Amino acid sequence: MSQHRTESPSTHTGEIPSPESAPSAPGSSVSAPVLIEGRQVSRHYDEGKVDALAEATFSIGRGHYVAIVGKSGSGKTTLLNMIGGLDRPTSGEIVYDGQPLDAHSDLDRHRSHNVGFVFQSYYLLPNLTAAENIQIPMFEADYGAAERAERAKRLLDQVGLSGRGNHLPSQLSGGESQRVAIARALANGPQLILADEPTGALDSETGDSILQLLEDLNRNQSITLVVVTHDEAVAARADHQLRLADGRIVSP
Ligand SMILES: Nc1ncnc2c1ncn2[C@@H]1O[C@H](COP(=O)(O)OP(=O)(O)OP(=O)(O)O)[C@@H](O)[C@H]1O
Ligand SMILES: [Mg+2]
Repeated sequence: MSQHRTESPSTHTGEIPSPESAPSAPGSSVSAPVLIEGRQVSRHYDEGKVDALAEATFSIGRGHYVAIVGKSGSGKTTLLNMIGGLDRPTSGEIVYDGQPLDAHSDLDRHRSHNVGFVFQSYYLLPNLTAAENIQIPMFEADYGAAERAERAKRLLDQVGLSGRGNHLPSQLSGGESQRVAIARALANGPQLILADEPTGALDSETGDSILQLLEDLNRNQSITLVVVTHDEAVAARADHQLRLADGRIVSP
């Protein structure tokens, strides 16, 4: 699956060749359309004392399935947050669909229209039902109340939770909660899903079904999927890996 890519010299800078170009010619000019590009992206904290991310250069093709892999503290969440516009680089640049996510860009709009986020701990609002949680991002778009309810119902069906719309988060299992979170991530029809350790709080069987659900969205709806994990077995399921160590992208 990813073996031929791990041998590519371009992987050293995190550049991800397209499935079509990779087997034939590392460094080939043929490549899939790029959705996300990182150009020497750095993020420092504490006035430069912590280099959470150091000059990361990479690209992620549209429709690709990428795992960001590395030990705890290697900078995985930092990188994901910058791709999703939850944070900005200290230096360097993230380019999304040809547009730099810079000081002039509307990160709120980027997050609400382009990106669906899935987190290890679900972050469902406890006083809202599953259906209401799914509708939260829709308030950033132009849906009327009836359309929001209809979309939420369809998304619940899609994640296998038909009939659970009126349940509160406390009435859902971990796996069901993560399915609601995935439905919420899909609320505005994103091009990209960013999942930070989405199976980290689940048993292996449930985690497997959650990964399967995310992978189905990638394959069937061509949603670009980026999954952060420190679990090599999870990483191996992705088409490509971006490997981090001490804030740097490293060769495999
Ligand atoms: N807001 C912050 N202020 C200061 N340092 C931070 C901040 N966020 C992250 N860091 C530091 O940046 C480094 C990378 O953190 P990050 O959360 O990206 O790691 P990670 O790979 O996601 O780890 P984990 O697998 O444990 O979630 C760590 O050393 C962390 O302590
Ligand atoms: Mg993290």
